[in-house]
Amino acid sequence: MQFTQKRLRDQVGYRIAGSGEPVILLHGFGEDGNIWMDQAKEMASAFTVIVPDLPGTGISAPALAYLPEQRIEAMAEVVKAIAEQEYLGQFSLIGHSMGGYISLAFTEKYAGMLKGFGLVHSTAYADSEEKIHNRKRSIQFIKDHGSNAFLRQMIPGLYGDGYKADNGEQVERHIESSKDIDPESLISYLEMMMKRPDRTKVLSDFEKPVLFIMGTEDKTVNLSDSLAQCHVPVESHVHILESSGHMGMKEKSAETTNAMKKFLEHLNEN
Ligand code: MLT
Repeated sequence: MQFTQKRLRDQVGYRIAGSGEPVILLHGFGEDGNIWMDQAKEMASAFTVIVPDLPGTGISAPALAYLPEQRIEAMAEVVKAIAEQEYLGQFSLIGHSMGGYISLAFTEKYAGMLKGFGLVHSTAYADSEEKIHNRKRSIQFIKDHGSNAFLRQMIPGLYGDGYKADNGEQVERHIESSKDIDPESLISYLEMMMKRPDRTKVLSDFEKPVLFIMGTEDKTVNLSDSLAQCHVPVESHVHILESSGHMGMKEKSAETTNAMKKFLEHLNEN
């Protein structure tokens, strides 16, 4: 399946392919949209799939212009603008980790535009004190050593130990593909994540289905947090990836694709 590259206001790049009911896939921190391509290619046979590179990543311009106040809500507006540019009408939104935080911010404001949304290794909880402390240390590290050194240190920790031991070259590819993310964008995203509020209420208020994909070895968003939250929505679809870290779309690629496809089929059944 061939994806076409497009742009929003000459700044934000995204890929689009397929036909049928639309879904937007949002990537997480230290990645670009390529992280979703196993799933995107497979799903484009049945759906219109849109995969942005969030500002500052991949083919998009640096994030600073989009994050003057480093608020996650600005990223939700980017999603809305892409949906409007593509005349999507109602669509589904699935976000990995930070992409899930953005999906929650989008849902808080524009729930009516959605058929459902999905959190893949993500959480509605705000950062803990410990997490805020670690993010501040990361910001200092980026200022002192640059983004490459930071990403080289951070990215391997996203993967489960078993996967990492057997798939070193995949992890290396992820590091390589992130190397052009500029330090200011990374810092803006860290600030943005630190400032985001708890959005558990978004989960309880949402009247349509929510997908949760979680990994038993995820050290970034732990399983117990995800399990506690999946009881909150009116209708949850829960998929637990055994022995997966934070990167199910790579570590358990086919299983993740199938869970996402099944969810989208369910949303678009009627
Ligand atoms: C991500 O994968 O998007 C980030 O690691 C999320 C986070 O740091 O909270």
